[in-house]
Amino acid sequence: MSLGKIIDTKNNDLFKRIDKQKVPEHVAIIMDGNGRWATKKGLPRTYGHKRGVDVLKKILKASKKLGCKVLTVYAFSTENWTRPTKEVDFLINLFNEVLKNEIKEIHEESTKIKFIGDLTPFPETLKKIISSSESLTKDNNAFLLNVCVNYGGRQEIVKVAKELALKCSSGEIKLSEVNEELFNSELLTRGIKDPELLIRTSGEKRISNFLLWQLAYSEIYISEVLWPDFNEFEFLKAIIDYQSRDRRFGGIKSLPNESFEDSQYSS
Ligand code: IPE
Ligand code: IPE
Ligand code: MG
Repeated sequence: MSLGKIIDTKNNDLFKRIDKQKVPEHVAIIMDGNGRWATKKGLPRTYGHKRGVDVLKKILKASKKLGCKVLTVYAFSTENWTRPTKEVDFLINLFNEVLKNEIKEIHEESTKIKFIGDLTPFPETLKKIISSSESLTKDNNAFLLNVCVNYGGRQEIVKVAKELALKCSSGEIKLSEVNEELFNSELLTRGIKDPELLIRTSGEKRISNFLLWQLAYSEIYISEVLWPDFNEFEFLKAIIDYQSRDRRFGGIKSLPNESFEDSQYSS
């Protein structure tokens, strides 16, 4: 059997184990480990970023196949500007190239693409291609791909706080009207359901300023695999793990045939 066939068989076996009724609608991913992947191979870190794009394309396909509706990926954080200029410039150029090459297929597959973050510091060429990609795909409704660039969760929350404060001081809204729903409606992810699942690759166990508000009750799955080695098989493993979780949202697990009164602790 060819290697491709073996991989397909392995993926199909996992795919069959997935409960199609319990597929997360929205998956968020911190695509981490590109640099370490390249360094391990004796290559410049930029090779890892390049390879990472191919992985994103595969995971986008896999999540569509599974029936997910939204994928939100962390591509560049507000803190990533502290990296060497050469690496930052490479990433900006890579976003440009990838969008240019992929937008046709993204549109043909009826995927809507959205960029989440403060685009102000990016070069005009990138801003232009982002804006034209967003407007080209704005009416697509098969799938939503959110790409977080120059994104920071704290910055997003401060921005919303400022907007609401401004509306209060101008009299547009009353202070008593400020609640979670209103706050939500001002976020960059407004109108999008919170992610049920957050995947972080490369074994790091932190959020790194990603979607701080939106991840309040998301299930977290840490994969030890570096992003350039991540694949459909690893993605399906994350989904299966997610499906085994008991999402309590602060409540208690409901046990069949047991009521509070029946428990041994009741007097
Ligand atoms: C994630 O991989 C991609 C970006 C942050 C742009 P890294 O570049 O953080 O790779 P590591 O974590 O250094 O291996
Ligand atoms: C988070 O990864 C940002 C992206 C994946 C774009 P980092 O590599 O920047 O996070 P830290 O520095 O390990 O927390
Ligand atoms: Mg990293």
